[in-house]
Formats: sequence, structure tokens, C-alpha cells
Amino acid sequence: MASNAAPEQGRNIDLDGAYAAAEERFTAANPQSLAQYQRACESLPGGNTRTGMYYAPYPLAMARGEGAYMWDLDGHRYHDYAGDFSAGLYGHSNPIVHAAVKEALEAGVTFGSASAHEARLAALVCARVPSIERVRFCNSGTEANIMALVTANAVTKRSKIMVFEGAYHGGTLSFPPSGSPINVPFDFIQAPYNDIDGTAALFDQHGDSLSAVLVETMQGAGGCIPGATDFLALLRERASQHGAILIFDEVMTSRLGPTGRQGALGIIPDMTTLGKYVGGGMTAGAFGGRADIMAHYDPREKGHFVHHGTFNNNVLTLAGGAAGLEKVYTPEAATALTAAGETLRARLNELGQKHGLPFQAAGYGSLMNIHFVDGKIRSHKDLAGRNLTALDLFHLEMIAASIYITRRGYIALSLALSDDDHDYFVAEVDKFLSANGSLIAP
Ligand SMILES: Cc1ncc(COP(=O)(O)O)c(C=O)c1O
Repeated sequence: MASNAAPEQGRNIDLDGAYAAAEERFTAANPQSLAQYQRACESLPGGNTRTGMYYAPYPLAMARGEGAYMWDLDGHRYHDYAGDFSAGLYGHSNPIVHAAVKEALEAGVTFGSASAHEARLAALVCARVPSIERVRFCNSGTEANIMALVTANAVTKRSKIMVFEGAYHGGTLSFPPSGSPINVPFDFIQAPYNDIDGTAALFDQHGDSLSAVLVETMQGAGGCIPGATDFLALLRERASQHGAILIFDEVMTSRLGPTGRQGALGIIPDMTTLGKYVGGGMTAGAFGGRADIMAHYDPREKGHFVHHGTFNNNVLTLAGGAAGLEKVYTPEAATALTAAGETLRARLNELGQKHGLPFQAAGYGSLMNIHFVDGKIRSHKDLAGRNLTALDLFHLEMIAASIYITRRGYIALSLALSDDDHDYFVAEVDKFLSANGSLIAP
């Protein structure tokens, strides 16, 4: 097994040099992942089928996971702080979810028929998320958002959609500052996130032609930037005033408390989209909302909307998801994990202060993002001056310390991580900031 030993610190003269050295150590420690990546490049563009999985010099290939840990092809064990970008809420092979999926698998899959599974997960979702009176399942968060938007267009007979700068609602619904050439060709207007006056002005201008307002209650991929309560309340008020359908994308944030982010905020949208952990770690998406809106999908009604989807009622997803919500991610567990995340985030933020460095963990509860920048982050504009080379270095040095986080600094806690894991993580971050502080200081 190649060594993944802690890096030799403090001998590089600048940040670029430190990063280059970290890449060299990474490459020396991970020959099997390199070989795997080279094989992948022969048939996948850039060896990749999920863009976020790529990072330089090449991504680690994981071989297996158990509880809070993963092992790569070179045999290194990692504390998993990426949590599959929040889909891995239950950790690896949670025994209860695992047993439910196994039981479903053994009972036969791909029925091409209704089963008992969909009603069970649907009831749990409706009980959990205040705005969801009726729900339909699909296969991803992206698909859930597309379905919610086309539903809003069809119901309101309008087509303009308000989204927010820096938002991420899926691979074809992405609004980073650099734009995206592969978004679905809908009629979007982009409003400034957490900016009440700027957004109100756009409502004044476009309100009566809006079919939908689609918003993350916390921008996830955009850097874990919570939506301010007064800002989200404004969206609720103005959407109602103009007859637009307010959609909360809670694909990530529905885990942040027993009733999703919306329940904690007391702001109830017309529709909500879900995904990620909701299928117990299996492919998942769901869109739901007010019964009168969702009634358009009642196939007994004349003129109903047709929503096909071969895998909408995939029994593995439904069974795993239901077992998870019913027996593992109970409302009590959601409260506890959110509190544990807030404690960890506070400890990380204290380290930034202790070292006097532009280092912080933004976010809420079990979802957070490391940023090498000072000051309060209310939108992507506040991230403009962040130090991305420091973040790249942090990523490789955490990997060298057996902590798996994402390249963009995003962290999603799983239920399997313990206080001991968090102590270890905080200690390694402390060491990193001690060793590299002089390179990172502004
Ligand atoms: C807020 C949000 N919406 C939608 C999506 C898309 O979900 P999926 O990757 O399942 O298509 C994501 C994925 O990261 C997300 O974070």
C-alpha cells in the first residue's frame, strides 16, 4: 500500500508551490486511482460522468464504504465528510436501510406495476414536509425541479421563471456567475439572492408574467449560503400577490430539521422538490405540493397531466427511502444531526478566528462549505475574493490526512460520523491552518 502520510509542511515559499507539492505527494500515494482514471479516460470524456467528481490531478477511485468510512483502490481509509454531496445521509450501508433494500431486491424489482412501496414513502414525505400534501416521485433532483417548473407553467399558463444568481437546481438548471450553456431553454430571469430590494424590483417589473419562483432555502452548490428569513418571506408574499407558484428546492435542505428548512422557517411554499437522501441512498427525486396543484396529475381526471417515468416507482429507492425516514432519520435524529452540524461549524469558525485567517465554514446544520474568505457571506458576490488555491491545497491536504471532503469545500455530514471523527477533523484543520497560515494570510 502506498503511503498517504501527513505532508511535510512549511517548506514551500508560496501557495502555488505548496499546492504543486501536494499534487506530487497525492500522485505518489495513489497509483491505483491513477491507473483507474487512465482507463476511464479511454471511454468517458475526461474519464468522467459526473462533473463534480473530478478534481486535479485526478480523482480517487473508491472501492468500498462502511459506516462513516470509505476505502480507495490504494487501500487508504477516509473519514467521509463529503457524504455523497448530501445523498449519503445514512452513511455507508446503514443496516436498516440496507436490509430494506435487500428485502425489496429479493422480492423482485421492475414490476411495471404499482406496489405497496410508493404509498409508504409518499405518506412519510407528506407527513414530514409541510407544503407537500401530495407527492410524485422521479429519478433525480434535476428531474424533480424540471417537473415542478413545467407543472407551474402548465397550471399558470405563463412561462417566465424567477431563479437566483448562484443557484443550483441540477445539471440543466444551473446559474453560476459564469453561466451555463446546457441549461434547459426556459424563460428564466435571475434575481439577486438575499437581496430584498433588487428582487422586489424584479417582481415589480415581471411579477404578473411569472409562472414560478424557484429558490433554494440555502444555496447548496453555490457555497452553503442560507436564505435570510425576511428574503424568503418576501418571495412568499410577492409570489402570492402575483399568482406565481413558489417552489422551494429542498433537495439538500429538507434534511435540516424534522420538517425541512421550510418548517423551521415557518414559510410554506406552494411546491417543494426533494432528492438525494430521500431514496435512502438510491437514485431519487420527488416533487409535491398543494393538493389542488398536484391534482392535475390524477390520472382518473379528464385532461390530467401525463407524467410517465419507467423508474418513478423503483422499488429499491422507495423501500430504502421509506425505511430511512421511518426508522433512521426520525424527526429526533434530524434535530440531533442539525445540532451536531452547528457545533462542528462553530468549532471550525473558531479556528479561523484563532489563526486570524480568512477561513470560515458557511452553511447550516449538517451542510456546510469551507471558504477561504473573510466577512459575512450573503450571496455569490461575497465569495468573489475567496482564495481558491488555498481551498485546492486544503482539499489535497485533508485527503492526505484521511479526510474526504469535496474539492469545492462542501461538507455533508452523515449519521455515521461520530464526535471522535469530528474531533479528529477539527484537529487536522487546526494543523493545516498552523502549517499553511503564512501562505494563506492576505
Ligand atoms: C439544491 C439542489 N437541487 C437539485 C439538485 C440536483 O439533484 P440531482 O443531482 O439528483 O439531479 C441538487 C444536487 O446537488 C441540489 O443540490
